[in-house]
Amino acid sequence: MTPRLARVCATCLSHKVNQNDLRISSLARTKWFGTGPKGPDGDGDGSGAQVPSGPTLPPFSWGASRCGRRPLSPLERVSQMLPQESLSDEVWELREKRTREENEDTETQTPEKLNEDTDVHEQPGDDDGVLEVMTHAHVLPEERVMCFGEVVLAEYRRRRRLELQKMFQLEKGCKLGSSWGSVDHDVIQGCHAGTVLRTTLGIPMLIRRPSLEEFTLFMKRGPAIAYPKDASAMLMMMDVSEGDRVLESGSGSGAMSLFLSRAVGSSGNVLSVEVRSDHHRRAVLNYERWRSSWKLRSGKAWPENVHFHLGDLINSAPLLAGRSFSSVALDMINPHLALHTVVPHLRTGGVCAVYQANITQIIDLMEGLRCSTLPLVCERIIEVQHRDWLLAPSLKKDGSFHQRRKSPGEEATESENEDGGKEGQVSAAHFPFGSVPYVARPHPEQNGHTGFLVKMRKISR
Ligand SMILES: C[S@@+](CC[C@H](N)C(=O)[O-])C[C@H]1O[C@@H](n2cnc3c(N)ncnc32)[C@H](O)[C@@H]1O
Repeated sequence: MTPRLARVCATCLSHKVNQNDLRISSLARTKWFGTGPKGPDGDGDGSGAQVPSGPTLPPFSWGASRCGRRPLSPLERVSQMLPQESLSDEVWELREKRTREENEDTETQTPEKLNEDTDVHEQPGDDDGVLEVMTHAHVLPEERVMCFGEVVLAEYRRRRRLELQKMFQLEKGCKLGSSWGSVDHDVIQGCHAGTVLRTTLGIPMLIRRPSLEEFTLFMKRGPAIAYPKDASAMLMMMDVSEGDRVLESGSGSGAMSLFLSRAVGSSGNVLSVEVRSDHHRRAVLNYERWRSSWKLRSGKAWPENVHFHLGDLINSAPLLAGRSFSSVALDMINPHLALHTVVPHLRTGGVCAVYQANITQIIDLMEGLRCSTLPLVCERIIEVQHRDWLLAPSLKKDGSFHQRRKSPGEEATESENEDGGKEGQVSAAHFPFGSVPYVARPHPEQNGHTGFLVKMRKISR
């Protein structure tokens, strides 16, 4: 591996990016992006798009390695996974050499045979728009390919940065367009989730299925959502488990409803109360969109266990009459005003978790609790913080790796081993593993504040 390529590999070590800010900033850097039927190629909209430069080469064919000829070298494999503009001239030369060899080899094959064996997708009407599947993961039983109607996620990472992340629904005849080129939805359809496809500009774009966390972050929003890190802490506070009955308010954009839906499973249920009809509609739409995509991706139905009710929780005594809940999640304005309606229906020992953005709102809640005779005790007030870290092999200025310095003791043991070691035995110091030191520090881009969580338990006095 050349020092230059090693440097590129190192800088491409992925980190968990800031979910809110970085995504916003990465999208802000995107000059053009769309997933509609017309792409920048079609309507000329993306003419001003910044295109990373790099030598022009015929695209790789993976077919060769699949039909029993020379397997790819580690250098070739790695270079194909990396942003093309970051490759050194040396790597491009090697790639050129391989392409030439490939062409010589394929001359002996009939075109029909080549078409059968290779996995190159040609875009109709796109002169240089050859898209290709860049990874051929082993297909496992019950693995399902992506299909029209499914919600998928496109991702492009360059060096340490997540340049683009976009969630969209696969639709026949549509195009995923961006400043980095476009990919036809028809090409994505039929690929396995987690496939790297090249855009029309040769940029490797990872196409995969979003997790529930990602779906809630990218879905269309009405009001602000309960952020996944906070939602999972709330689920833990409330100790939500399979079969539980949970009351939630307000439904908002439906993020918390989705997390609750997964936690209570098909034997449990969630009652989600929302006062605004537009928010109520948005929550229902997001819930249904996730459910239908889930059915397509897994072949199994997502439980229909959330009942979305349009109404004011404060005046919901008639709705709650005769019901009992294992726990309650409140993410609404003035939650202390709803406690007198809700608490009689919370089982003794159950938890009411409240999510609020400002600490002054928590003070109001505490003061409301102090002035009431409700059998509730506040157990905890927390803020959940995730700290992202940067971790990469330590590099010299010339791009080569630093080497870990041996202690005098290690050096002595090593020379003893070399002298007295049995023939054929290799000292551990000869293995490259562990020879490179790493740098590790908090990532410069961190998540900002999202909210405070309050855990209140119902007790019997
Ligand atoms: C921040 S949003 C909730 C977001 C939601 N947890 C999510 O994850 O998408 C707050 C919601 O509470 C609703 N709300 C406020 N007061 C309410 C009340 N008295 N009864 C029901 N809903 C209420 C608002 O209309 C708003 O949609």
